[in-house]
Amino acid sequence: MLKIQDVARHAGVSAATVSRVLNGRSTVNPELAARVHSAVRELGYRPNGVARNLRRRQTTLWAVLISDVGNPFFTSLVRGVEDGGRQFGYSVVLCNTDENRAREAEYIAVALADNMAGVIISPADDSTDISALVAAGTAVVTIDRELAETEVDAVLVDNEKGAEMATAHLLESGYRRIACITGPRRMSTAMRRLRGYQRALRAFGLPSDRSLVRHADFREEGGYSAMAALLDEGVEVDAVFAANNLMTVGAVECLTERGVAIPAQVGVIGFDDIPWARLFRPGLSTVRQPTYELGRAAAQLLADRIDNPAKPAARMVLQTELHPRESSSPRAC
Ligand code: RIB
Repeated sequence: MLKIQDVARHAGVSAATVSRVLNGRSTVNPELAARVHSAVRELGYRPNGVARNLRRRQTTLWAVLISDVGNPFFTSLVRGVEDGGRQFGYSVVLCNTDENRAREAEYIAVALADNMAGVIISPADDSTDISALVAAGTAVVTIDRELAETEVDAVLVDNEKGAEMATAHLLESGYRRIACITGPRRMSTAMRRLRGYQRALRAFGLPSDRSLVRHADFREEGGYSAMAALLDEGVEVDAVFAANNLMTVGAVECLTERGVAIPAQVGVIGFDDIPWARLFRPGLSTVRQPTYELGRAAAQLLADRIDNPAKPAARMVLQTELHPRESSSPRAC
């Protein structure tokens, strides 16, 4: 039976390098990593972890870990995963982490204990630890949010481009004092959307005014409180870009309760399309994420990873779409 040492000899590297590559460490020189992957393919080596899972008769279950079961964004995403998984003979177990790292770790332990064939995870935050899954040889795909320094498959959207599109749309509509309500600093989607907002302002020749940027919780309450703080502090605002669906709803709720006219006094655009966005009066401008397609793509990558554990990690970045409606109509000059 082939051992790591055989792969190392064939690739002309140390056994430790082979182990680091197969355990998804991104600290390995890419040229050496490529030699290891080639040697694995040429020799037909299967890491013990996979052989052990085969001996243990792995289940046909996938665990899908999401960070907020109350958010319609995840409903459509999980639908895509489930439809994709069933196509390959897998069933899906839904785990809601509520962006709580301890609960997330519990669900990762359950997936390992129950020999689940694979895990799709929207990390609770940037420091989510998936090393136990990688070390066990469990196939993993991250979705929606990124984990730096891990060599695992990832399915994302171009968050910066989407946020830049939203902000540029407001600028082109005549808004100049644009607030950005984004999520927590510890989450990649929050920071990438903030960077897209700042990039649009720079491209338009406008300075980034820190008083216009607020970090909230990616939930309705946080969007409401952030909007209320901007108004209560007397910050001059003529538009708001909210970096996810729930915070957009919260911000609109606050503006409406305060009698602020949308878009006459404050224009609004939100990241994530919302099933009922066009039912708002005025209709809500949004940046749509291809949520169902994200789920389907993650299912495809996970099935491929289970069949071919040693192939190099893939990173898929899908594009968002701008859906302008009345809430960001051009400002009357
Ligand atoms: O509303 C869901 C979206 O906002 C997802 O991208 C999630 O990561 C949060 O950032």
